[in-house]
Amino acid sequence: MSPIPVIGTATAMKTKRRERITIPVIAIDGPSASGKGTVAQRVARQLGFHYLDSGALYRIVALAAERGGIEWSDGDSLAALATTLQIVFEGDEIFLHGENVSTVVRSEAMGKGASEVAVHQALRSQLLNVQQVFRREPGLVADGRDMGSVVFKDAETKVFLTANSHVRAERRYKQLIGKGNHAILAHVLADIEARDARDKSRASAPLIQCDDALFLDTSQLTIDEAVEKVLQHYRHTN
Ligand code: DC
Repeated sequence: MSPIPVIGTATAMKTKRRERITIPVIAIDGPSASGKGTVAQRVARQLGFHYLDSGALYRIVALAAERGGIEWSDGDSLAALATTLQIVFEGDEIFLHGENVSTVVRSEAMGKGASEVAVHQALRSQLLNVQQVFRREPGLVADGRDMGSVVFKDAETKVFLTANSHVRAERRYKQLIGKGNHAILAHVLADIEARDARDKSRASAPLIQCDDALFLDTSQLTIDEAVEKVLQHYRHTN
């Protein structure tokens, strides 16, 4: 896929209106460390679709705020900041104002920051059109917390992908250790449960399972099995 620059709101709205009806979207929502990013990316690759990692946008805002001295609790300033950010996704890489920020954006600290900035409706509204621009031919796989409930409410294919918190903590722990980080399983579990609680309980676009979403518990599934189940659901709904 060619890089998708995140462009201004006016252009985004025109694109959204023109393309909304026809272009398929697979909306995958679920809690952190559920594996939805890996599954979504593989599904996108198999179908030749674009991929939107919506969590990365919130992570980038958290990073830019930290660098710019803006508090993660200041929703209006975060929303204003978001309008100034030049973000480009290129494959697995994320660029902010031309700088490759892939590693820092995916850190645990920015995961926590993302969950904190994401509670603000002003910021969520600002990022809505930005995300909808990713809906381009031949299709999109989007993962996050509110893909099926808000951003791509009209998606034909919705999946709620989860795993129990202990399985998710172990997966995240192994990832951290694998990358040479120091980690304590009990702390990873506590962080995941705190993030779940914040993402589910916030007033704006909380993490919920949509009625029309396939519930997919990956606690006992391999990645390949989860990918196959999403593809089956896509074929069934399209
Ligand atoms: O998927 P992730 O771990 O990269 O997401 C980081 C945080 O961003 C998550 O804890 C909540 C927030 N988020 C959100 O509120 N809405 C989304 N669509 C995606 C992420």
